[in-house]
Amino acid sequence: MLKKRLEGKVALITGAASGIGEETVKLFVENGAIVVAADVQDELGVQVAASIGSEKVTYHHCDVRDEEQVKETVNFTLEKHGRLDVLFSNAGVIGSLSGILELDLNEFENTMATNVGGAAATIKHCARAMVEKNIRGSIICTTSVAACVGGAGPHGYTASKHALLGLVRSACGELGGYGIRVNCISPFGVATPLACRAFNLEPHQVEANSCDQANLKGVVLKARHVAEAALFLASDEAVYISGHNLVVDGGFSVVNHSSSSSTTPYYYHNVDAA
Ligand SMILES: NC(=O)c1ccc[n+]([C@@H]2O[C@H](COP(=O)([O-])OP(=O)(O)OC[C@H]3O[C@@H](n4cnc5c(N)ncnc54)[C@H](O)[C@@H]3O)[C@@H](O)[C@H]2O)c1
Repeated sequence: MLKKRLEGKVALITGAASGIGEETVKLFVENGAIVVAADVQDELGVQVAASIGSEKVTYHHCDVRDEEQVKETVNFTLEKHGRLDVLFSNAGVIGSLSGILELDLNEFENTMATNVGGAAATIKHCARAMVEKNIRGSIICTTSVAACVGGAGPHGYTASKHALLGLVRSACGELGGYGIRVNCISPFGVATPLACRAFNLEPHQVEANSCDQANLKGVVLKARHVAEAALFLASDEAVYISGHNLVVDGGFSVVNHSSSSSTTPYYYHNVDAA
């Protein structure tokens, strides 16, 4: 029988009540982890925990914009389970799709406070716990293809995900000295409530859009695929991987799409000109 990849590990997952976070809670538990699932959507979070089993998952309210709540959530994890091996800092908001000429700076600040400030607070308190207990932990943040290229999301979202990528690299530099790995995952479009709300579309319509714009054809990107990437980075299989941005985008962010149809790579359009 295959060894479970997170056996004996305790993980804290933020943004765990829905979408990618919820799927990762399930996959981590399937792989032997004990999980504290944190979110602001209490009803959904409690349901997620109940559907998996209270001996494996505990839901805990935490608004990542509030450092006190983050600190309290990390303390809760330590008091309940005695250790913390993995942080999946995944809570995020996207904001509205307005252009730069109509940018709402209050919304911009909220996006930064959640996606960057929230991740910073969570990394800070989880890393403190790991350092104090001498645990060679794994910290993983959810960035986005919007951390790699412009035009893949609203302005505030793109700014926040670029900043988060910088934070991951910066924290990796300091925490490597303690044996703690820090990485991120940059997914392409997944039909979660975040994406459906942002585009005002049903899940099947978000998936159709993503498939149309995708570089890699024949696969519909699901939250489970992103969770698999988180599982890899959390596990000992990634023991020497730190500071890495694991892009789960089928090649989208490294291909020039400006002159391509959805099915033909850019360079085929330019064969005659070459
Ligand atoms: N869905 C996509 O296409 C996509 C693509 C790339 C990156 N991402 C990123 O994936 C992450 C998860 O998003 P998702 O797509 O699963 O969406 P989702 O809406 O299903 O999940 C996001 C979760 O974050 C929680 N959250 C929001 N603000 C919070 C706060 N202040 N404190 C605690 N929790 C908070 C929400 O309640 C929600 O449960 C986000 O960071 C998002 O930016 C999503």
